[in-house]
Amino acid sequence: MLSNAEGLIKIINLETLEKEASDKIDRGAFGYVQGGAEDELTLRANIESFNKKQIIPNGLAGLDGADTKVTFLGAELASPIIIAPMAAHGLLHEVADKATITGAGKAGTMMGVSTYASVMLDQIAAASPNTPWFFQLYMSRDNGFNEHMISKAVKAGAKAIVLTIDAGVPGNRESDKKNNYNYSMATPNVAEYYEGKSITHSEARAMRKISFTAEDIQYIKSISQGLLVFVKGIQAPEAAEIAVQAGADGIWVSSHGGRQMDGSPSSFDMLPLIAKQVNKRVPIIFDSGIRRGSHVFKALASGADIIAVGRPVLYGLILGGSEGVKAVFDQLNYELHTTMILAGKKNIDEVKATKLFDVATQQIEK
Ligand code: FNR
Ligand code: LAC
Repeated sequence: MLSNAEGLIKIINLETLEKEASDKIDRGAFGYVQGGAEDELTLRANIESFNKKQIIPNGLAGLDGADTKVTFLGAELASPIIIAPMAAHGLLHEVADKATITGAGKAGTMMGVSTYASVMLDQIAAASPNTPWFFQLYMSRDNGFNEHMISKAVKAGAKAIVLTIDAGVPGNRESDKKNNYNYSMATPNVAEYYEGKSITHSEARAMRKISFTAEDIQYIKSISQGLLVFVKGIQAPEAAEIAVQAGADGIWVSSHGGRQMDGSPSSFDMLPLIAKQVNKRVPIIFDSGIRRGSHVFKALASGADIIAVGRPVLYGLILGGSEGVKAVFDQLNYELHTTMILAGKKNIDEVKATKLFDVATQQIEK
């Protein structure tokens, strides 16, 4: 069961969207998207931990509006919210990554394209020529592969390279075991390097490098042909330090949506510690658990510059193709805009400078 939906969808909120999407595709495919590792403690904590901080309303800021726009990688975006790189769009929707990038374009945002995209990179780019996108690399033990992928991405017009370091081995995802989900979807960009031999997701995973060093980051920088390199999957301040010192152009705080190490702290809990360590030397991108505009606000106020969204984008794709993806962003941008007005913050710089109320200490952050 593959969706071919294309058109407007109604969204109450992103949680209700998950339930609606679950009825539209195979259980195995849905479980792969929705599930997390082991007891899914981190998956849940990623969402729930936003409740530990609160936004103080302020109706006396004299606003005559609020502006969510930002500039990132040379592109003006409707808001700081972008699409996280994800495998397997083709498991969910016939038009796959091409519908997602088209939706990103309609929403005024940019898209992360995975090594395991379901469509060739140049075709994704051509589906929405003015929409900025960046390429996420699953680094292989074979440097020929790494160089091939990066030059393909550069040629196709990627705006940056994202090196993911938190998935050396796949997380232990029990929903996939229960559903006998077999990771058999095609990864055409990987297959091309192997001269057209069909390479499934599970075969591609087996080629991944399992752990990383500063040298790996330096190496990816050296072959990135001038594109910025972000390091994704940072959850520890020390790891952020290693990455910055190795020349990373951005730190991507992420727990992979709770799909990798279960029982790790939520990404939102780690964000302030990492932001303190990075100390504005490079931008911080944040993902994991974003389901509300208020979550976006809180992450920005806790040190993030750009916010990425994963699963809800795929639910929008399933339910409405490119229009469904756009609707997810319209909803988040609407919620962010509403929150900004109620908090008395007129632009994203003011949001970033906001002090939140810490529920544990009953104090406003310093
Ligand atoms: C991912 N994610 C991911 N990350 C990455 O670097 N490369 C990839 O190929 C994938 N693939 C992937 C597939 C699916 C189905 C999901 C749900 C996620 C992780 C993704 O980029 C992001 O870190 C999380 O999805 C963020 O958490 P939320 O927003 O889903 O809670
Ligand atoms: C996942 C891999 C592809 O989370 O990153 O399934």
